[in-house]
Order: sequence, then C-alpha cells, then structure tokens
Amino acid sequence: MEEASRPPHHIAIIMDGNGRWATARGLPRLLGHQAGAQAVRRIVEAACELGVKALTLYAFSWENWDRPPDEIQDLMGLLDEFVRRETHTLLANQVRLRAIGRLDQIPAGVLSNLRRVIAQTAQFERMTLTLALSYGGRQEIVDAARRLARAARAGDLTPEQIDEAVFAQHLYAPDLRDPDLLIRTSGEQRLSNFLLWQASYTELYVTSKLWPDFSKGDLVEAITEYERRDRRFGKVGA
Ligand code: IPE
Ligand code: IPE
Ligand code: MG
Repeated sequence: MEEASRPPHHIAIIMDGNGRWATARGLPRLLGHQAGAQAVRRIVEAACELGVKALTLYAFSWENWDRPPDEIQDLMGLLDEFVRRETHTLLANQVRLRAIGRLDQIPAGVLSNLRRVIAQTAQFERMTLTLALSYGGRQEIVDAARRLARAARAGDLTPEQIDEAVFAQHLYAPDLRDPDLLIRTSGEQRLSNFLLWQASYTELYVTSKLWPDFSKGDLVEAITEYERRDRRFGKVGA
C-alpha cells in the first residue's frame, strides 16, 4: 500500500500554456515553447535545490503528434537543444536523466543524443529527471499488456500471477515511485493522458500560471499546499 511522502519525493508536472503565453504577446507559438524551455531549466534547478528526489515533466504527449508538422519540428528541435545544452548542468548537479514514452517515434538524431545523456547520467542519485516524450498513459498501459501477453505466451507467467505489482513492473519506468504531487499549469483541469496508472492517489494541484511564467516560488507554493493535504489512501483519516 501507498505511503505519504512529506516533502514530496516525486513531483510530476504537466507543463501547459506555452502557446497561450506567446499568443498573449502577439508572438509565434515557437517563442512560447522557447520560453517554456527556459522554465524547464529553472524548475529542474529549483527542484534540485529543494531536495526533490524525482521530477517527471510531460514534454510531448502521444496526442501532440497530431499538431502541425512545423510545430512538432520546433518542439523536437528544442528537445535536442535542451539535451545538448543541459548535459553539463545535469552532470554537475548529479541529476539522472530518463525518458518514458514511445521513444521509437522520436527523430533518430534527437533520440541518439537523448540516449547518450541518459547513459552518461545513469549512475546519479541526487535527483531523477524523467522526460515524458511521445508519452500517453493509455499507450503505456497497452504496451504493458502486450508485454504481459508475450510473457504468458512464452510460458513465463500465468494469468493468475498478474496482480497490480506484476502489472506495474511492465510499465515504462517500474522502479520510479508513483508521483506524490502532480502540478498542471495554465488552469486546465484534466490529466490529458498523463501517468494514468501512477497518478491513482497523487495529489493534484492546478495553477492558472502559464508554464513560461512558472517560477521557483510557484513550485514552493505547490509544495506548501501539498504538505497541508491529508492523504488518506482510502483509509480513515488521522
Ligand atoms: C505546452 O504548451 C507544451 C506542449 C504541449 C508541448 P501548449 O503548446 O499546449 O500551449 P497552449 O496550451 O496552446 O497554451
Ligand atoms: C498536455 O498538454 C501535454 C503536454 C503538456 C506535453 P496539451 O496542451 O497537449 O493538452 P490538452 O490538449 O489541452 O488536453
Ligand atoms: Mg496546451
């Protein structure tokens, strides 16, 4: 059974509102995504300083592949730039980089860079930064079901052996703890297919701030609010 972690061990963020941030300024959406990338740098650093052990950022959803091709290209370009430019910061701060999602859809050049930095930082334990890329919660659950079906067909597993723990072992990052706190920026009150399995008892925090405006102070505010919550996990309260 789940246990509350205080301060939050794992924070997940749906980084939303880059487009609206740009549109409000009469700028093209690309500039909103650029400003969003700056916010990523800021918040990774802030999370590290605040002692957060795991940070998972929703950077590109499975459904985002349906956006116009030039916006997708811009986003992949920014991802590549982020990985290249932040490598030294990740190394210096002992941050382990990971990625979850259907990564085989990512352009080959971007993916090979990403995999290189993932390998370079694999031994670090100060904080784990997981990028959800080409990620969908339902797709993750389907992919787990496929792996379980293959294992059963191979005779490595019986249907009766499948329980929550065994199922969870077949998700993209089985060793990552469930998020304690899930933040969504820009006011939208939905999960948009993010961490559907893992967020079953996660505390939700929605702020109207657009992602490019999200600051360390806003992160502290979300954590403070989280610490006031009574996480009951279906039990009777304290
Ligand atoms: C979030 O900002 C970034 C991604 C989804 C990649 P959006 O691009 O969704 O910004 P809005 O929601 O249009 O403002
Ligand atoms: C969720 O934002 C995905 C990411 C932040 C990467 P969207 O902007 O794609 O979500 P919807 O379309 O508003 O639900
Ligand atoms: Mg959006």
